[in-house]
Amino acid sequence: MRHQNGSDLSWSDVTDKSVWLNRRQLIAGAAAIGLAGPAAAGISAVPSSLSTQEKPNTLEEITSYNNFYEFGLGKEDPAAYASALTVDPWSIQIDGLVDRPGTYPLDDILKGVTLEERIYRFRCVEAWGMVIPWIGFPLATVLDRVGIQSGAKYVAFETLLRPEEMPGQRSSILDWPYREGLRLDEAMHPLTILATGLYGEEMPKQNGAPIRLVVPWKYGFKSIKSIVRISLVAEQPETTWNMMAPGEYGFYANVNPGVDHPRWSQASERRIGAGLFSSRQETVLFNGYADEVAGLYKGMDLAKFY
Ligand code: MTE
Repeated sequence: MRHQNGSDLSWSDVTDKSVWLNRRQLIAGAAAIGLAGPAAAGISAVPSSLSTQEKPNTLEEITSYNNFYEFGLGKEDPAAYASALTVDPWSIQIDGLVDRPGTYPLDDILKGVTLEERIYRFRCVEAWGMVIPWIGFPLATVLDRVGIQSGAKYVAFETLLRPEEMPGQRSSILDWPYREGLRLDEAMHPLTILATGLYGEEMPKQNGAPIRLVVPWKYGFKSIKSIVRISLVAEQPETTWNMMAPGEYGFYANVNPGVDHPRWSQASERRIGAGLFSSRQETVLFNGYADEVAGLYKGMDLAKFY
């Protein structure tokens, strides 16, 4: 464990003991009543009441139709090229306005958390959607443990920069590394997770191994993959798609059928796997999570802060 100020602080030093005990009890309890269910063969995870009852897409659909520009622009490119990515060892630099900045090995970060299965709707800005059974844990768990300082108002994220393994980064299609950001209250919301797997197994590389963000009420581009840096900051951070085309991709990027993309409608969407001749479905405000998140945007003009 390397710590920025030179001290040897391990993740367990910043993890409350009750969290550890609680996790063991949860896993034992879940196993005893057979709840480990779908995750039993791979990563053990507890079910969540925040999951949708909708039928998940197949593993094949989720892992063969991807956006991950580090591996190319085509939907099949990530599945074709992401196998070259080295995901172990992996660490995340957590810095900025936090009490305990450091470069934390992923194993240490995961030691203290309860992994949950979160079956979420996922809506890309390109007007297609899926239902994905993620394995993950609230981002808030990590932020709380490093100690959020009072000046922090936003959270900024960065993807790995490694052109040797990420062929897309050898061209300037985007301003690398891929960057995203959330307002602090969005980042702390219980629906916002760091995901380390799906379908009960470790995260496939094309989906953002070994760890990615998932924010289910926002367009998919906010859900940044293969994260190596998390910074707590005072000002709204610059984000990749917003910088490239601010009129097309807002910082907020909340799913909203009433605010069209300048080049296409957002009123409806295509569910991947539904079949060529099935009808499109209506897009729902905040991707159907309005009960949980609408309060975050009270009094804000959603057409202005798109
Ligand atoms: N993260 C990085 N680093 N690079 C990307 O190109 N694409 C985003 C998002 N996260 C992207 C990324 C977009 S546009 C979408 S829709 C989702 O990842 C796709 O996630 P999936 O391939 O797991 O469905």
